[in-house]
Amino acid sequence: MFQASTPSSQLSKPAQYDELIAQARSLMADEADRIANAANFSSLVFNSLEGLNWAGFYFFDGVELVVGPFQGKPACVRIPLGKGVCGTAAQTRATQVVRDVHEFPGHIACDSASQSEIVVPLVAADGALIGVWDVDSPLVARFDDEDAKGMEALCRVFVELAWTPASSK
Ligand code: SME
Repeated sequence: MFQASTPSSQLSKPAQYDELIAQARSLMADEADRIANAANFSSLVFNSLEGLNWAGFYFFDGVELVVGPFQGKPACVRIPLGKGVCGTAAQTRATQVVRDVHEFPGHIACDSASQSEIVVPLVAADGALIGVWDVDSPLVARFDDEDAKGMEALCRVFVELAWTPASSK
């Protein structure tokens, strides 16, 4: 049975992410359903890290990004590639760390409380775009390079465990 223990804010960021990665592996290891895994992954991160107001997925439907499981206020449903922080991460396939969303040209304001955000592209083993993992904060400059490394590592676990056929896990 999965035991959630909130990573202590006393831990360093890398240690917090190490703990989250172990918890994410435990949550998804025996489950093949993508929506179930995405829902629990977003809840795990949202409820474990401090200073967040939104954490969730946008999945690529072949044309644009469509909102998936998330925690936080209702969000914009569809985002074209190249638009906003999410669309930029998807198009460039590069993690976007935005210290102040008001300085990001074309930022899409779903929740006016959001001040900073990090978006990690999700790419399958065969190179196909899966979507993006988007985390927002009401604090300016909430995310730094350590968050980028930690979120990227978490997203690798998500792609490995949630986007790999159970037969080849
Ligand atoms: N801020 C994002 C839009 C999604 S919401 O934050 C949930 C963006 O500009 O891509």
